[in-house]
Amino acid sequence: MRFDILSIFPAIFDSYLNESMFKRAKAKNILDIVIHDIRKFSKDRHQKVDAIPYGGGPGMVMTPQPLYDAIMYAKKLNKGPVIYLSPRGKMLTHKKAQSLAKKPGLILICGRYEGIDQRVIDLCVDEELSIGKYVLTGGELPALVVLDAVSRFVPDFIGKHDSVVEESFSEALEGKKEYPHYTRPPIFMDLEVPEVLQSGHHGKIKEWRKGKLT
Ligand SMILES: C[S@@+](CC[C@H](N)C(=O)[O-])C[C@H]1O[C@@H](n2cnc3c(N)ncnc32)[C@H](O)[C@@H]1O
Repeated sequence: MRFDILSIFPAIFDSYLNESMFKRAKAKNILDIVIHDIRKFSKDRHQKVDAIPYGGGPGMVMTPQPLYDAIMYAKKLNKGPVIYLSPRGKMLTHKKAQSLAKKPGLILICGRYEGIDQRVIDLCVDEELSIGKYVLTGGELPALVVLDAVSRFVPDFIGKHDSVVEESFSEALEGKKEYPHYTRPPIFMDLEVPEVLQSGHHGKIKEWRKGKLT
């Protein structure tokens, strides 16, 4: 699956995408992730990407030209929907991530300052997505959250597909939150792993886990 991420701070993505699962997914061509620097599309001679808001008020707003051109460029490479990460958007859920993973790709726009010019939203954005009822400094962390949540449903991203099938919020767990996990040693700081989990009795373990869903 292809992701094109548009940001004025592209370096933010480096460490997260070059470790662990994402590093592996890139190497195995499971994911194709391209970060675009919006500033490079600016026609301003100082490569400015922000200006004061019409109507007054605090902060700056991202100007439409660089972002519009960046989106048009990305759309030539990626046939997926254009998503603007925004606190005003619909809330990202497990189901939403699952359905986005079926798209041919995603173009993710990271806002900064007070946000982006509404005309870019009117002209190019298919959907606004929020990752929670709080305000962050920029859309880079929300874009990584969407990328991560969606990628888990991309075939082969996670080695054992079962770990995605039976997970908190999944249909297999009836939308509930998962049971607690334990590993070695059997006793840690006087706390023992529940006997049933050590018994090896699959039927009883299944029953115990079902009872622990919340
Ligand atoms: C400081 S915020 C802008 C907040 C905006 N003025 C408001 O009050 O809704 C800058 C950028 O961070 C991103 N952002 C902040 N919080 C977010 C959230 N909860 N979900 C998704 N994106 C968010 C958006 O891309 C936004 O354009």
